[in-house]
Amino acid sequence: MMREDRLPSFDGVFAPVVYRDGGIDMVDQTALPERTVVLRLTEVAEVAEAIRTMRVRGAPAIGVTAAYGLVLGLERGEDLIRVADTLRGTRPTAVNLAWAIDRMLETFERRKDESAADLRAAMLAEARRIHAEDIAANRAIGRYGADLLPNDASVVTICNTGALATGGYGTAYGVLRAAHEAGKLAMVYPCETRPRLQGARLTAWELLRDRIPFRLIVDGAAGALMAKGKIDAVLAGADRIAANGDSANKIGTYQLAILARHHGIPFYIVAPTSTIDPDTPDGARIEIEQRSEDEVLAPYGCRFAPEGAAAWNPAFDVTPAELITGIVTERGVFRPPYRFEEGRG
Ligand code: MRU
Repeated sequence: MMREDRLPSFDGVFAPVVYRDGGIDMVDQTALPERTVVLRLTEVAEVAEAIRTMRVRGAPAIGVTAAYGLVLGLERGEDLIRVADTLRGTRPTAVNLAWAIDRMLETFERRKDESAADLRAAMLAEARRIHAEDIAANRAIGRYGADLLPNDASVVTICNTGALATGGYGTAYGVLRAAHEAGKLAMVYPCETRPRLQGARLTAWELLRDRIPFRLIVDGAAGALMAKGKIDAVLAGADRIAANGDSANKIGTYQLAILARHHGIPFYIVAPTSTIDPDTPDGARIEIEQRSEDEVLAPYGCRFAPEGAAAWNPAFDVTPAELITGIVTERGVFRPPYRFEEGRG
């Protein structure tokens, strides 16, 4: 494992991406957990490639990355509208990406007539504000979420919602951290999260680093675990929350919500308000990213399926609001009926 002081950090916490001396330092999440590689990106095309290929992933983390990507575009003298379009087109479901880009473009519009140095400073400051606000939101989310859990809690989670998926600290994972710090957490059961294995590769990596007790489960084991009466809550992140509370998250989240309802277990969506999209009325209107069938047929170059097999590979599913016990944000816990029409949260 790489020495802690060689990993990127922001505001004193481990961060998957930071801007430093005219370039971006990024932990390559496709190399984890075998290798800890910190990439140095200095071109917008490299940033777009990193988001598309999931070297950086997780809704808030790709928002922060795009914000720094716009700073890089400005440094390189590129047309910022084109840079914004390129970055916006990398992944469609996570609304934090478009949200961060729009925020950066607003700053650009407001400050573009100032000197080049002042404009550059204003853009970098805005990107760093987006980053700092995300970490602060996650810390608040952690506190609200930990209060929802009983003592000695056992929790199922999916995908990776930790520091790696955010500006730092984590969303659903941030709740696990806060609950662990409060001495309330007995056991975490992360789903391995086929096909990209964010649970097995990334959440397990973070849980080990943070010394939080866990047992990794295959995605299909969640029902059997709940049936044993072992689980107190399911905590999942979100990539986009529609105005009515329907929430898109990693494929497999929807079936966890149904299982939780069947077993009478609270199911919480945990996300900053930057993940709420008041312009999308309901889940049916959320664009779901379709990824290459190779991710299913031959994950990480290891072919399981016979030659000639085809696959369906949506990256996300939508959990209907009626299955969500509460949406935990930095502004508190929202309960049904959810109405996010007027502004974020
Ligand atoms: O495809 P990914 O790995 O980018 O998907 C990420 C998720 O679905 C996370 O659960 C979600 O972005 C919340 S991350 C804080």
